[in-house]
Amino acid sequence: MVRIAMLGCGLIGDFYAQALLGQRSRDQIRIAYSRTNDRLEQFVSKWKIPSGTTDMLEAIEHPEVDAVVIATPNHMHEHAACAAAQAGKAVLCTKPLGRNAQEAYRMLQAVEKAGVFHGYLEDLVYTPKTLKALASVRDGSLGKILWVRSRETHPGPHSSWFWNKELAGGGAIVDMGCHCIEIARSFIGKNIRPIEVVCWGATQVHPIDSEDHAIGLVRYENGAIGQFEVSWSFRGGMDLRDEVVGTEGTIWLNHWLRTGIEMFSSVGSQTYVAEKSESSKGWMFPVGNEVSALGYLDMFEDMLNAFDAGQTPRETFFDGYVVNSIVDAAYRSIQSKRWEPIQLERWDYTSSYDTNVAKQDSEFEIIKRELLPDGSERLIVKNRKTGQIENR
Ligand SMILES: NC(=O)c1ccc[n+]([C@@H]2O[C@H](COP(=O)([O-])OP(=O)(O)OC[C@H]3O[C@@H](n4cnc5c(N)ncnc54)[C@H](O)[C@@H]3O)[C@@H](O)[C@H]2O)c1
Repeated sequence: MVRIAMLGCGLIGDFYAQALLGQRSRDQIRIAYSRTNDRLEQFVSKWKIPSGTTDMLEAIEHPEVDAVVIATPNHMHEHAACAAAQAGKAVLCTKPLGRNAQEAYRMLQAVEKAGVFHGYLEDLVYTPKTLKALASVRDGSLGKILWVRSRETHPGPHSSWFWNKELAGGGAIVDMGCHCIEIARSFIGKNIRPIEVVCWGATQVHPIDSEDHAIGLVRYENGAIGQFEVSWSFRGGMDLRDEVVGTEGTIWLNHWLRTGIEMFSSVGSQTYVAEKSESSKGWMFPVGNEVSALGYLDMFEDMLNAFDAGQTPRETFFDGYVVNSIVDAAYRSIQSKRWEPIQLERWDYTSSYDTNVAKQDSEFEIIKRELLPDGSERLIVKNRKTGQIENR
């Protein structure tokens, strides 16, 4: 059993509690922290947590706590992670790790210096659909991954601090682009170093300083491209989609609006439909089990199993730091309108990616294999010596 201090009792704190305690869990939230008493009392009573506090350090330093889960707004992550590391506790931090790469790097250094377990809570690389798709990519079913497109768009976040550039560290990119970037990295291969970013971002709708819409391209050292599309201006609910394109195959993932349940009600639903659903009447797209569909169950399974076994989880503070560095380059690119290099203090992975590209004919390189209407097969090839392109 892992005994947890849950810092933050808002939307994500509640999802995390549901994932940890909602079914027959063997772990325990020993103490919860929230800024206000009202929310704290509701949370503690809903999840039957033995104690609660409005003093963050009291929760972190509680003697019966093994691991600290950071589920507070972005501007509090660094302070919380450093305090937890200093107290010798394992630290699991929600996304984004920091408001920027500098914060994330200091957090990485703090946990490494203290020698404590650290995990980056990027749930969207753990959804059941993503885990299945990742297994297919790893077994070579798609060949070399060339392009991953990941989208998260909705009408905007639910709490005031997200809209404050200083507290959040930015807008839709740091809030949701961080998910899309890590999804793309996971499919392309986390050992493949990201090199540069070009990004467009703008404040299209809301009266805020940060961007409410952005599209970016991340180029990796093997030529692969990760594409992120994020918006706080999108209407119609939450659109979470990924497309993975490889030399030998394609995967399309739809996590939210089109999950397989489509429901129409003329009178309207009296119960909660799904996160960020904009309507509870007419056509609706409910989600069967949100904590599972969003990856929280498999994420905590990986994190806490790794903690128990003294191993490294799939997502660490180093991954969070890489994501923050890509996000920072995207912000620079919006300003410069150019490709911006991704500045990393260090690179921990060794690049040994098996591209698994189909073997090529020695005299000719195959450009395209086409099955014609008469049933015959045509190869469009390039002669390696002459460079000539011809049908065979
Ligand atoms: N899919 C995901 O992984 C996911 C989803 C949503 C949010 N998040 C992340 O979780 C963190 C919290 O987001 P949330 O949606 O739960 O936020 P929220 O506003 O719903 O809850 C914030 C919690 O932090 C506490 N808090 C302490 N100091 C605060 C302050 N100065 N201002 C506001 N709240 C304060 C609040 O009392 C509350 O318990 C953020 O870092 C966010 O990016 C992750």
